[in-house]
Order: sequence, then structure tokens, then C-alpha cells
Amino acid sequence: MQAITLNEFGPPSNLQIEEIPDPQCHPKGIIIKNKAISIEGGDLRARALGPIGEAPYVIGYQSAGIIIEVGSEVSNFSVGDRVVAMSGNGSHAELRSVPAKAAWYMPENISFEEAASIPVTFATAHDCLFEFGHLDKGQTILVNGISGGLGIAIAQFAHRHKAHIIGTVSDEKKVSKLKEIGVNDIIVHTKNDVVDEVKRITNSIGVDLAIDPVGGQALEQAIDATKYRGKVISVGNASRSDNQIDITLLMKKNISFNGILLASEQSKNFTRVYDLVNNILNNIASKNFKVYIDKVFNFNEAIKAHQYAESRKAFGRVVIKI
Ligand SMILES: NC(=O)c1ccc[n+]([C@@H]2O[C@H](COP(=O)([O-])OP(=O)(O)OC[C@H]3O[C@@H](n4cnc5c(N)ncnc54)[C@H](OP(=O)(O)O)[C@@H]3O)[C@@H](O)[C@H]2O)c1
Repeated sequence: MQAITLNEFGPPSNLQIEEIPDPQCHPKGIIIKNKAISIEGGDLRARALGPIGEAPYVIGYQSAGIIIEVGSEVSNFSVGDRVVAMSGNGSHAELRSVPAKAAWYMPENISFEEAASIPVTFATAHDCLFEFGHLDKGQTILVNGISGGLGIAIAQFAHRHKAHIIGTVSDEKKVSKLKEIGVNDIIVHTKNDVVDEVKRITNSIGVDLAIDPVGGQALEQAIDATKYRGKVISVGNASRSDNQIDITLLMKKNISFNGILLASEQSKNFTRVYDLVNNILNNIASKNFKVYIDKVFNFNEAIKAHQYAESRKAFGRVVIKI
């Protein structure tokens, strides 16, 4: 099969397309012929910073496609089923071998591009707000990197839950689309001070819950912008900073701090996460939420696709189709 492989972690130009052996089907697994591959924030991080496994190494969490082989111990899937899969690596290829428990049926009216962009992003967004953030109706939240895949999913769930949403972006061009999703206040962090703006918007109280997928200075600002006894969630490090946070900032305001990794929830709380993703897929199929896809690239444009995904120009997901 053709695969987008990586011999050494680093910039997008390290990606290459090569012919590698087809994957074997595990008795508890399935083989998927991929139709769409999403480029998740975590894929960019894995490509840039590693660690990577033995060559030929195929990165990527999420893809959607059609099952072409089913393991001898799998009874809940058949050849021909349309599925989306979420796993630690292997999405950037024509064929993918995954455990059956890492795949979900795609509802009929969802495209492969949409499905490929759903599980990690939307389940993490939901966990940030509800499982760990305990968001109450009417509360005020701050979401850094709100125009990224994760940020837009958080914004949609929070809007439906009647939260007051404050989001940060680097570029004014993203503001009108965020307003359409229901983001109440948007801070262009390249122009305005995030903490001052949050104080102005909240009458110096601060937010109930701050969610930070960016890291570094953005995480410090999130803590600073949170109210007495508020909550801060660190869910990513899109800035690739070394994240040296001064924890006295948390003590001063009795702030609760949570780190979140969906993969840990998936391994410790498998059924909860599996059901959550199913529920989200059905809600997106019913048009309660939307997958925002900025650009779709061809398989032979993987380098360009990764370059665009980390250019900070995209609004939502960048997808590779096969
Ligand atoms: N813990 C988990 O389980 C989990 C699950 C999903 C994602 N994540 C993590 O969450 C982060 C965001 O994921 P995503 O899928 O939303 O990524 P994405 O779609 O690539 O979006 C990242 C956003 O971060 C913002 N950003 C701020 N500073 C940045 C910088 N220096 N470099 C690049 N982007 C910067 C960008 O918005 P502006 O340019 O407008 O500031 C961009 O929209 C990633 O670190 C990812 O690994 C973690």
C-alpha cells in the first residue's frame, strides 16, 4: 500500500509517500481502506516532536473509510461497513489495521471527511466542559485557540449549554465565523491583552472555567483570567512551549487545575468514551453540531496539508482524502 511515512520527526518536509507492506488483520481487529484522514493537532505535534516508532512509521490518530477485512474474533463489524477509527498512529495510509474497539459505525448522512474529524476532537471537547469542567448553565468560559478543531467543538457544546463564551484567536479574519457559532466575545491576542480583556468583559471577576490547548504564555494568561475558586483545564500544547507554570498562581485564587488526555480516558474508562463518541456521531448526523473543515488535500499533497494545518490560517480541520 501507499503510506505517508516519517523516518525522523521534524517539519512537514520530513513526510514522504512510499510503498510499504499491507497491514495484517489481528483476530480482534479490522482492516480499513481509508477514504479520509484528518490532521489533528496531536498529529502535528507527533510529526514535529516525536517520539516515532520503527520505520516505516505512519503517523496519525484518525481516519474514516470502508472495512475490507474483519478479524476472526470480531462479530460486530462486517466487510463493507463505513467506519471511523481513532488510534495512536497509522491513519496516514491507504490501509489501516485497528482494534475493532477503536472503530465506530458512521451514521449514513456523515461524509468520510466529517467522520474522520470527529472522535478525538469532539470527545475531548465534551470532557473538558462536562466530565472535568463541570460546566453549569450560564457560566462564563475562556477558550484559548478557539478557531482550532478542538476550540470550535468546545464552542459549539458550550453555546448549546448556554455558557457565555470568550475565545482567543491570532487573526481578526476568524472573528465573524466564531460569532456565527455563538462565541460571545473574541479576543485577538496578537492585538489585545487577554487578561485585561477578560477583566473588562467579566467586570473584574474572571471566568468560571478556562480551557487551554495552547500552553506556555497562553496557559498562564488562562490562570490569570480565572476567578477565585474557578477551574483551569490544560488540554494541549499547540505552541510547543516547555510549559513552566508557576503554581503559586493557582494557590492565590484557590483555583482547581486539571490536565486532560482523552487517550487515558479511553484506556481507563473505555465504555464511557465509546458511548460518548457514538452519541456525538449521532448528534452531528442530526445536525445538532457541525464539523468545520477548512481545506481538503489529495493524498500526494501530505506535506502541503501539514504545512497548511500548522500555518494558523485554518478555521477548523484540514483533511487529506484518498
Ligand atoms: N489532551 C487531549 O486528549 C487532546 C485531544 C485533542 C487535542 N489536543 C491538543 O490540543 C491542541 C489543539 O488541538 P487542535 O486539534 O485544536 O489543533 P489545531 O486545529 O491545529 O488548532 C490549534 C490552535 O491553537 C492556536 N495556537 C496558538 N498558539 C499557537 C502556536 N504557537 N502554534 C500553533 N497554534 C497555535 C491556533 O489558533 P490561533 O492562531 O488563532 O491562536 C490554532 O487554531 C493540540 O496541542 C492537541 O495536541 C489534546
